[in-house]
Amino acid sequence: MDIVIIGSGNVAAVLGRKFKAAGHTILQVYSRNASAASKLAYEWDTDSTNYTSLIIKNADVYLIAVADDAIDRVANELRLPGMVVAHTAASVPKEVLKRVTAHYGVFYPLQSLRKEMAVLPDVPIFFDGSDELARKKLAALAHSISDENVIEAGDEARLKLHVAAVVVSNFVNHLYSLAEEYCRKEGIEFKQLLPLIAETASRVKEISPEQSQTGPALRHDSETIQKHLELLKNHPQLKNIYVLLTESIQQAK
Ligand SMILES: NC(=O)c1ccc[n+]([C@@H]2O[C@H](COP(=O)([O-])OP(=O)(O)OC[C@H]3O[C@@H](n4cnc5c(N)ncnc54)[C@H](OP(=O)(O)O)[C@@H]3O)[C@@H](O)[C@H]2O)c1
Repeated sequence: MDIVIIGSGNVAAVLGRKFKAAGHTILQVYSRNASAASKLAYEWDTDSTNYTSLIIKNADVYLIAVADDAIDRVANELRLPGMVVAHTAASVPKEVLKRVTAHYGVFYPLQSLRKEMAVLPDVPIFFDGSDELARKKLAALAHSISDENVIEAGDEARLKLHVAAVVVSNFVNHLYSLAEEYCRKEGIEFKQLLPLIAETASRVKEISPEQSQTGPALRHDSETIQKHLELLKNHPQLKNIYVLLTESIQQAK
């Protein structure tokens, strides 16, 4: 397919690379950030622009991969009648694109994507479309980069998924970040925790997280918990989260 990518951030870069690897043509990259757009265009041997009026009008699919709050603003400047146009946000309704075309939809990659990724990850795609044409094209594009994991999902289902995704990815990563800072300040090495992180993450493929839980909170090891809280006096942000999560684990039983 011929694709125009609107945006030049993480999702634009990773999906664009996956499209190229699957044999599609990126016709053009548009971004308000001219230098980021031309960098991606150079990588994909294609054109770029930072003027919405210069966006090419004959692509099979237009993918809007800009910040959630910017989708409405970008849509305001786009008129692509007859074209298939989708955004990549989980939590933004597809109707935001109604004024752009009759064939609009969503192409949501349920994965944590970063421009700097050396290896392209597996990316499950949750798609939605306003009509048969949009659904058909977006489904075909999704299958071309993610054979096993292509699921049709409406606005409500995507919003629900996004909440769960924030918890398992963004929140867990924030805990890693706090733990890394704690390790640095206490003179221990965060990397010594990597086998534990890998084991905990891989275990949820086999058994439910509820069954997989271990640790002092679950065992009600009060003396150990008190020693930890004493040590965490110098780390108030982490201490608050430790208390909150200890209570949550004990209430979950
Ligand atoms: N990253 C992920 O893991 C992920 C996964 C699934 C879905 N998504 C969704 O994909 C979309 C893009 O996310 P991202 O991670 O690629 O974001 P990002 O890396 O921060 O890139 C955002 C892009 O939006 C542009 N932008 C921001 N504000 C704008 C505005 N007011 N007008 C025009 N362009 C604007 C930015 O341009 P500048 O460079 O000029 O700021 C940049 O090109 C979001 O809807 C997000 O929810 C992200």
